[in-house]
Amino acid sequence: MLGLKDVSNRVLEARYAVRGPIVRRAQELQKRGKEIIWCNIGNPQALKQEPLTYIRQILSLVEYPDLLNDKHVDEIFPSDVIEKARFIIAHSKHGLGAYTVSQGFEFVRDAVSKFITKRDDITARAEDIYLTDGASQGAQFVLSMLIANPNDGVMIPIPQYPLYSALISLLGGKQVNYFLDEDNDWQLSQASLEQSIKDAKQKGINTKAIVVINPGNPTGAVLDHENIEMIIEFAREHNLSIIADEVYQENIYDNEKKFISFAKVMCELDVRDVSLFSLHSASKGYLGECGQRAGYLEVRNIPTNVNNELLKLRSIGLCSNAAGQIILYLMVNPPKKGDESYELFTKEKSGILNSLKRKAHLLSKGLDSVDGIECKTPSGAMYVFPRIDLPDKKTDSDYCLSLLESTGVCVVPGSGFGQLPGTWHFRATFLPPEDQIKQVVEKIEDFHTKYTNV
Ligand SMILES: Cc1ncc(COP(=O)(O)O)c(C=O)c1O
Repeated sequence: MLGLKDVSNRVLEARYAVRGPIVRRAQELQKRGKEIIWCNIGNPQALKQEPLTYIRQILSLVEYPDLLNDKHVDEIFPSDVIEKARFIIAHSKHGLGAYTVSQGFEFVRDAVSKFITKRDDITARAEDIYLTDGASQGAQFVLSMLIANPNDGVMIPIPQYPLYSALISLLGGKQVNYFLDEDNDWQLSQASLEQSIKDAKQKGINTKAIVVINPGNPTGAVLDHENIEMIIEFAREHNLSIIADEVYQENIYDNEKKFISFAKVMCELDVRDVSLFSLHSASKGYLGECGQRAGYLEVRNIPTNVNNELLKLRSIGLCSNAAGQIILYLMVNPPKKGDESYELFTKEKSGILNSLKRKAHLLSKGLDSVDGIECKTPSGAMYVFPRIDLPDKKTDSDYCLSLLESTGVCVVPGSGFGQLPGTWHFRATFLPPEDQIKQVVEKIEDFHTKYTNV
């Protein structure tokens, strides 16, 4: 029988803390009847966020087109929903049970390119868009292509979303850390980037790309124009590709900040010699359709022969999930003013985003008021990443495990995302319902006081 000795070291060494040992322990405790509050992962609909009616109505008609022939269909579905379902059915003529072309339905990629143009006032082309099973798959394609030798390095922020460290491990490359500045609202400094690439060079690492997560996970920081310009110039100077993970672009709660895409700044600067891979997803924002596995990758400044290799890579997995492609179409093509479903759609959308904003404040302010916990209010994304004081010899993993055992609150230790040595953190999502967020604050406050006073 197969043993661990037969398993690739790359698999053995890969870590993915958001579903790591603490989460497995939480699942065990739940099976034994303990009530768990799941603050470990940004999975909105598992935490009672309702799907948008508009999306599910259209999806149901597209999945089961016979419904359109029902004599009551006009009474059940708004007219624009029926019209859009008919359009989708006409443009996906083999239905959702057939493989699509490798890059994904052309009408969906067309809609994505129009969405980018409208968002950023720049040109975008359907042929530069790859529909993917979530942003994770887009990241996997790009890194699979870029990590060619064991010495190839990829710069990632610390703290980071562990998809990136895990993929670099799996693909046998080198992780090159750059530290975000906690004391400066987790912004990114040129000095830190320069230091990181210099250290990598000294170790003989050939750094090929930089990953930027904006808005940040787990930090919630939103990059400003100047910061993005600086990163693009840095990438150009060091001959790096940029992987811009922009899955939280709709999740901004600070009225002073706004999302600016790397594609937009690159076009404004007329930069044509830095390759850019931008990722987006239907899992976050106000859709929260994580289980549908829908996302896209947009490429810029990629020579045709390299793009052909990316297409080959995409085609090896045939295509992304077809229903997910439809969800993505609806994400970039929401109802317009005047459509029958517009009012309900807008009400549901703003309900979700306003509640997220309230919860971001509730959780961060609540935790920040606890002695020994310092928690910034996140400007974006779905998480808080508080810094915690711990007794000597205790680690953040010990802390999170004890917190889980004694309160049922499941959070992820900061070490799963990376943190400045000598500091401890945990990451908690503020997705649970508001009454649960209040409980989370009370439970953590009580626990933290006892834990640090032993
Ligand atoms: C920064 C970031 N990128 C990518 C993903 C994965 O998204 P998807 O569900 O689209 O694969 C997540 C999920 O939490 C994330 O936080």
